[in-house]
Amino acid sequence: MTKEPKHCSFCGIEASASVPMIAGTEGYICEACVMLASQVVSSWGKKKELADMQGPLPKPAEMKAMLDQYVIGQDLAKEILSVAVYNHYKRLKHVGSKTGGLGEADQSVEIGKSNILMIGPSGTGKTLLASTLAKIVGVPFAVADATTLTQAGYVGDDVENILVRLLDVADGQISRAEWGIVYIDEVDKIARSPEQAFGTRDVSGEGVQQALLRLVEGSQVKVPTKGRRKDHSGSDSVMVDTSNILFIAGGAFPGLEKHVEKRLQPPKTAIGFHAEVSNPDDKPSLEQMLNATQPDDLKRFGLIPEFIGRFPVLAPLEPLDVDALIQVLTEPKNALVKQYQQLFAFDEVDLEFTQDALVEIAEKAIARNTGARGLRGIMEQVLRKTMFDLPSRTNVQRCIVNAEVIRGEGEIQVVERDGVADGGDLKRLSGGE
Ligand SMILES: Nc1ncnc2c1ncn2[C@@H]1O[C@H](COP(=O)(O)OP(=O)(O)O)[C@@H](O)[C@H]1O
Ligand SMILES: [Mg+2]
Repeated sequence: MTKEPKHCSFCGIEASASVPMIAGTEGYICEACVMLASQVVSSWGKKKELADMQGPLPKPAEMKAMLDQYVIGQDLAKEILSVAVYNHYKRLKHVGSKTGGLGEADQSVEIGKSNILMIGPSGTGKTLLASTLAKIVGVPFAVADATTLTQAGYVGDDVENILVRLLDVADGQISRAEWGIVYIDEVDKIARSPEQAFGTRDVSGEGVQQALLRLVEGSQVKVPTKGRRKDHSGSDSVMVDTSNILFIAGGAFPGLEKHVEKRLQPPKTAIGFHAEVSNPDDKPSLEQMLNATQPDDLKRFGLIPEFIGRFPVLAPLEPLDVDALIQVLTEPKNALVKQYQQLFAFDEVDLEFTQDALVEIAEKAIARNTGARGLRGIMEQVLRKTMFDLPSRTNVQRCIVNAEVIRGEGEIQVVERDGVADGGDLKRLSGGE
């Protein structure tokens, strides 16, 4: 035996007075690695506990019905998501986990994880769907914005911050975080641009994709705790196993649909009287588009094949039209109109929107191209003055908002308790124009 210094066989640190080693027959282990290993092992047991703890998993149809209470339209995406989320948690419950207790299921069939990629314009409900699903299943949920990871792709530690957030939401319980859902927004922005596919090196977007891969494909990730929680071992990081975390990515992927559409409707080459007249409104359905979307389209868009491969479930969302936006305004449990009506009701005032006002709001939102996201801003702007004046008045019974108000061509009509309809009074009160 030579007198070579002892090294930890796990992390390689050299033994010293401050770093004692525990010797095994073949190697050594340092104290820090013992701590980490202990954390990993103790989380194995908790997974089984959690599987027993949770209530029954809602069936896909039940999940969709619950989604319907919060999210307007997007039936296809809801169905796809319900099935994917159901399968994900059914798999976890039955198998426990790779390392947890064994279920009765046939262990020879290993069911792979199916992360989900949502494709649809901004403000159509992607984030809302993901967060509502997490609520339905009762697991921790965290959102990450892929664009903020751009720089960190080089440094390599920002991606772990996604797990810091998830761990926070899980009250520091590692085993809970390990069953959570992470939504990664704007993944289309980390595509490398097609022009840069050859020649110039564009590593930033691709670098982030690579960094995310490690997280998404399931591995033990060292997550800094930065004093957020005191853990008995005194260590400032914990190990989080991402193999059971459901990752949902989303993006607008502008131009992707045109690409697919083109393949669905090859340009008509027939000329002359007998040429078929193709109806421009005769667009392929969302389902047809989805079935036609191939990994190649995403690759051409600038996602790397490994990344695409990790998101085998595609869920398309459609832009919200006027009718859908009016539904968004009025129907969900926490619809904006309901929220403002409640705010006014605290002052004992009825708030009313005429149908044409709702249409006008929806059209304004469409013009802004931000989907349902723009609705709140429009509502705030429309109601601001009234919300400023109203608390100072005592005899107002009703406020009526019509289309002129939305267009900025009129004032909100105020009905007082003695029955006098008055648009001018409020105008005077607020300074008028
Ligand atoms: N389909 C929808 N049904 C109900 N509300 C919606 C819908 N789409 C968007 N919203 C509303 O618009 C806001 C932004 O939606 P979000 O889910 O963040 O859009 P995305 O992630 O697709 O950009 C949400 O707060 C939600 O209130
Ligand atoms: Mg979003």
